[in-house]
Amino acid sequence: MDHFIYRNGVLHAEDVALTEIAASVGTPFYVYSSATLTRHFRVFDEALADMDHLVCYAMKANSNLAVLKLLADQGAGMDVVSGGEYLRAKAAGVPGDKIVFSGVGKTRAEMELVLKGGIRQFNLESEPEMYLLNKVASELGVTVPVTVRVNPDVDAKTHAKIATGKSENKFGIPIAKARAVYAEIAKLPALEIIGIDVHIGSQLTDLEPYRHAFEKVRELTEHLRADGHTIKRLDLGGGLGIPYERSNDAPPLPMDYGKVVRETLGDLGCEIEIEPGRLIAGNAGLLVSSVIYRKQGEGRDFLIVDAAMNDLVRPAMYDAHHDIVPVLEPAAGTETAPVDIVGPICESGDTFTKQRQMPPMQDGDLMAFRSAGAYGAVMSSEYNSRPLIPEVLVQGDQFAVIRPRPTFDEMLNRDKIPEWLAD
Ligand code: LLP
Repeated sequence: MDHFIYRNGVLHAEDVALTEIAASVGTPFYVYSSATLTRHFRVFDEALADMDHLVCYAMKANSNLAVLKLLADQGAGMDVVSGGEYLRAKAAGVPGDKIVFSGVGKTRAEMELVLKGGIRQFNLESEPEMYLLNKVASELGVTVPVTVRVNPDVDAKTHAKIATGKSENKFGIPIAKARAVYAEIAKLPALEIIGIDVHIGSQLTDLEPYRHAFEKVRELTEHLRADGHTIKRLDLGGGLGIPYERSNDAPPLPMDYGKVVRETLGDLGCEIEIEPGRLIAGNAGLLVSSVIYRKQGEGRDFLIVDAAMNDLVRPAMYDAHHDIVPVLEPAAGTETAPVDIVGPICESGDTFTKQRQMPPMQDGDLMAFRSAGAYGAVMSSEYNSRPLIPEVLVQGDQFAVIRPRPTFDEMLNRDKIPEWLAD
């Protein structure tokens, strides 16, 4: 469920008409609904309510400071994967003891930054990483709580580019090797074993891979405890999918995911940590764009819009589907016809959809790409020297620009001409 609905024939974000935002900030832009973000966070929180737990929002999905602050105010912890994300979480007011550091290639500089600023736990992904972390923490005179991210060799049944739990993926330590690795960590004085971490992939639409992975984590918990380790926290990662195609998709609900957690791990006496990203932010955001030209091609029509693959790369990168709707509601019974919706960038990959059934749309008409709140703005670039587009947050009848569009001067001023080229 989200808060983007037609009212009086105009698509609204909560109580604000998208036409009003478009007139104020220009297109294209991202718009997020506070009520939807809050609701999605709460749904997860409630799904685990009867267990000791912390929902750590995977901020890679959408790391705008305003979004982080809103979720932090609800009690969310943060899952970060870089020094930059850590600094953002801190800037949004999240205390270090609610920030988890994940990621397959943490650098020495990032370790120092995070150890100095305070951290809830490190999720270790390799043996070289654990030796380096022990060294850096020893130099700083601190002890670090750690888990090991285990790779359970489970097929998450999702897009190959976002599956992470198979043995051929670069993530984690093979579960078969885990006991030996924990034994090695126990010898490192600056590392304190507190639990286990697992994350098998993103946009999962089936709970069975989770059940399978969690059963393996359960077995490992028992083995590690028998080996004398303290396992008091289980980080189960994120990955629950969202309905990108509303007419077709019905992914499992957080409540049902919570049941699987309870059934497989609920009696171990562990604190449960989860790292959802997409389910919190995905359907809380739209990308709003306008038609530049309607062009008749050979046997097909194109809507050339002012958003492009640099603004929303998911269709080009993962062949992802986003529902696309006109901002002005078509009258009941309006006929639809197939069109290709494309951006202005000079490559054919800059295609959002092919032969999509759409009501008639003309130059200047506004359309909204749904489910664009996660992995939209954060993955955007300035390819073709197109400025990053603004992000807008709505709450009730208020809206605010939470990241302005840069000016061309700001963009140009970031580049420097070396002395030897200067006139
Ligand atoms: N935890 C870890 C360790 C992760 O690697 C990820 C996502 C998450 C949590 C959050 O997963 P989520 O709940 O959002 O599925 N750019 C891609 C998605 C990449 C996901 C990477 N890791 C896309 O646009 O589909």
